[in-house]
Amino acid sequence: MNVDKSECNCAQTNLSNENLKQEIIRLKKEKNAVILGHFYQRDEIQDVADYIGDSLALAQIAEKIEQPLIIMCGVHFMAETTKILCPDKKVLIPDTEAGCSLADSCPAKELAEFKKAHPDHKVISYVNTTAAVKALTDVVVTSSNARQIVESFPADTKLIFGPDRNLGGYINSITGRDMLLWNGSCHVHEQFSLDKLVELKQQYPDAKVLVHPECPRQIVMMADNVGSTAALLNYSKSSDAKRFIVVTESGILHQMRQASPDKEFIPAPPMQSNCGCNDCNYMKMITLEKLLVCLRDEINEVNVDAEIAEEARKPIKRMLEISASLGL
Ligand code: 13P
Ligand code: SF4
Repeated sequence: MNVDKSECNCAQTNLSNENLKQEIIRLKKEKNAVILGHFYQRDEIQDVADYIGDSLALAQIAEKIEQPLIIMCGVHFMAETTKILCPDKKVLIPDTEAGCSLADSCPAKELAEFKKAHPDHKVISYVNTTAAVKALTDVVVTSSNARQIVESFPADTKLIFGPDRNLGGYINSITGRDMLLWNGSCHVHEQFSLDKLVELKQQYPDAKVLVHPECPRQIVMMADNVGSTAALLNYSKSSDAKRFIVVTESGILHQMRQASPDKEFIPAPPMQSNCGCNDCNYMKMITLEKLLVCLRDEINEVNVDAEIAEEARKPIKRMLEISASLGL
């Protein structure tokens, strides 16, 4: 993977948020560009994105994009996945430092050694991984399709699941499988406080608790609904409940509030902060100003080594094919 860092992200534009948005929308049209955004992005980024979604939806959308220029408002592995699926397009990311602690917890070299030690196992990797890790993988999953993809393997298939031990443990618990789990996790989802969540639930006994499966087991046990960001959003729309405690990165609340203005959404707090929200510092690196500069100057192009991309494309395509066959 090569990232063009030759340009500086710190360029100032001195424009207000509204002016920034208008200028981004103007440039987007002029350049025939598409902006993709993840649900954990800042509200104002979600507002200017052409498509907003969870990791599965973003990959499904990327595959179908016709425009030549794509700006990924998300983290680096998402931009890599987009580039792998769209090798002929120019893929940019507004801040090249927008990484992921979960992807960092699984270096490709260590996974290669682990695979060697377990040669009879298939490797299932969460999409939150580098392209190099995906290149060592049999099939990629997201939190929207992990259960179904694991179940698509015969029950006696030996499986390695990485890098998220929480998601892997959750899938083991609902499928009865015994996958070998990589010992990685997301620093944001690890941070939710069980004590504060119990307190919130006592304060709002009518609230439904929505939990992302990247959270540890004791938090997942509190859930009325467990799922990907898209699944939690859909549940909040269709549920009759009027109040929800949301146990995932707080960016998703923007879409929940827009979709159901008559309902109340309460973010679950992290352990080590008096703040009520739990933000991903990497996701929040993407600002309107950086997006504008990135789009205007076409900087921070994300490229993936051709051999790695070819190997990584196979398990991503496999995931997309299985998902399509299951109507996901
Ligand atoms: P989903 O949006 O696929 O649920 O993923 C959550 C996440 O942590 C993305 O980094
Ligand atoms: Fe990675 Fe966690 Fe941030 Fe998602 S929320 S991008 S898993 S660090």
